[in-house]
Amino acid sequence: MKKRGIFICIEGLDGSGKTTHAHRLVRHLQEKGFDAVYTTEPSRGELGKFIRGTILEAKKRVPRVVEAFLFAVDRVEHFEKEVKPALKEGKIVVSDRCVYSSLAYQGAAGLDLEWIEKINRFALPPDLAIYIDVPPEVVVKRIRRKKSVMERLETQRRVKEVYMKFVDNGKLVPIDGDRKKAEVEQNILKLILEFLQNKA
Ligand code: TYD
Repeated sequence: MKKRGIFICIEGLDGSGKTTHAHRLVRHLQEKGFDAVYTTEPSRGELGKFIRGTILEAKKRVPRVVEAFLFAVDRVEHFEKEVKPALKEGKIVVSDRCVYSSLAYQGAAGLDLEWIEKINRFALPPDLAIYIDVPPEVVVKRIRRKKSVMERLETQRRVKEVYMKFVDNGKLVPIDGDRKKAEVEQNILKLILEFLQNKA
């Protein structure tokens, strides 16, 4: 039987560089001969497109609970259609956001963390989750385009507070993201390679 793959998740505030780093990590892993794939939440499926196109573009205000459910359902679809098949083939899946985004963002919006965890219990927890740590003041400056509600400084501060709870309890591994891009990139790769070595 083929060995099950590895599920890695990259987390961070909007503008923390997580998408760039997730892509670069996949490329580095591929160059080293690993079969790695990039995925993202919200997903590239129909529900993910709906979430991006309506809620995130602030075209529609939906109740926070509805929003949390939508992210959770999209996460199940992402897992069933993309993550699970890739893991079955023994691949390394690098997911740009996962359940910790719901905990951080919907938690920062005032929803109970235990309840968020409960509605997300169908989503597989990642084998390793990284938090790219960049101060909220820095990410807000980095985001030049018109800020959506989610991107305002106060929101980012609250989101970071929740992320730090999971750094403190050891679920998220922090990486200092307030450094040169190449340095952050190397630190992430080093961490992942060490993790893969220990797993082997
Ligand atoms: P982001 O990765 O920044 O998307 P893009 O690639 O379009 O820049 O994520 C989109 C937004 O969705 C971000 O502000 C965080 C939010 N989000 C949640 O609030 N809950 C979730 O569960 C997820 C996955 C994302």
